[in-house]
Amino acid sequence: MNSIKKTNEFVFQTYLRQGKEFVRGEGATLIDEEGTCYTDFLAGVAVCNLGHCHPAITLAIEKQAKTLVHVSNLFYTAPQADLAATLVEKSFADRVFFSNSGAEANEAAIKLARRYFQLKGNKNRYKIITMEQSFHGRTMATLSATGQDKIKEGFYPLLEGFSHVPFNDIEALKEALDETVCAVMMEPIQGEGGVVPADRAYLAKVRALCDETSTLLIFDEIQTGMGRCGTLFAHELYGITPDIMSLAKALANGIPIGAMLATKEAAKGFDLGSHGSTFGGTPLATAAALEVVKIISDKDFLESVNEKGAYFRQKLIELKEKHDRIIDVRGKGLLLGMEIDNNSKDNGKDKDAGFFVANCFKKGFIINGIQDKILRFAPPLIIEKAEIDRLVAVLDSLF
Ligand SMILES: Cc1ncc(COP(=O)(O)O)c(C=O)c1O
Repeated sequence: MNSIKKTNEFVFQTYLRQGKEFVRGEGATLIDEEGTCYTDFLAGVAVCNLGHCHPAITLAIEKQAKTLVHVSNLFYTAPQADLAATLVEKSFADRVFFSNSGAEANEAAIKLARRYFQLKGNKNRYKIITMEQSFHGRTMATLSATGQDKIKEGFYPLLEGFSHVPFNDIEALKEALDETVCAVMMEPIQGEGGVVPADRAYLAKVRALCDETSTLLIFDEIQTGMGRCGTLFAHELYGITPDIMSLAKALANGIPIGAMLATKEAAKGFDLGSHGSTFGGTPLATAAALEVVKIISDKDFLESVNEKGAYFRQKLIELKEKHDRIIDVRGKGLLLGMEIDNNSKDNGKDKDAGFFVANCFKKGFIINGIQDKILRFAPPLIIEKAEIDRLVAVLDSLF
């Protein structure tokens, strides 16, 4: 039985997979059993930001795997200490909690925000406002935080104390913010929601509103962080900082890890025994992440992301000028989205996001579709302009 059949028979059928098995990855290329190459414009959903099997990351994993893989958080290890110190040095934060995934990093952020006010004796201040169309994960708390109804079906009752307001609507947030709210939680650029950036003025007002009401501001940078948007963290583009931030995905370029970062003040919400994780911050994952942070935070590296992002964006805008079916091109850095009109018909055939994803794949390019009408591009940040040109030519031929 081959891997596709085995997976379909023995693994829960919760994912809609493309009928393809990959056996190797190198840079921005994924290779199947026959040796056919695919250029990856998704990077394992914004995870392999340094490309597949980056030599420096492979070396860091190899070295650490031969030395020490796991000891639990009952002891100290150098890679965890060094990663925490580096993340603090490169961000607004003063403390880091390590987890294994994005959902767990957000779970930690939610727990911290609630406990911060509980410890202050403010027991009624436990509600969290998030955004419509947001995505924060699949655990019960993060599902409750998520502003999309579809993925909640069948899981009710969800956790109490979450409400959602329209994104980029400051009046709606103002109205919802009362003395029972402990935190506002949001992605600076909604990823799963369709690559929708927050407006600059809006985000500044969100920060100001949180300051006025002493509400904690949580940024979910799980998808937007780690250089994806041209700065180490996307909020740097907006010139404001949160009180709490969650990271995961690209933090260790594919080795599972999550992190929740907080200011000294917000960090008061967790004390001895208040939160924990068996695997959180293992030497293996943190050694890989340390190398990732070193490479990505380099000024020249980030500059190259900006340059290639602007180049790619311009190419997509040129496509939009050429094809009426393209409604919008948006995003920051190398997290780009192209919205298409999936209602118009061409030769009697619907051209929805699935059509473009499938046909790009046939031509050797991996892209992603959201909500049937948005094409998401999140290539490894080491993607080359020539590869962008080739994808754009394929997209052009499909309209
Ligand atoms: C913004 C955001 N938050 C949270 C998550 C959940 O992360 P994970 O799948 O690692 O639990 C994701 C995953 O796509 C995400 O994009």
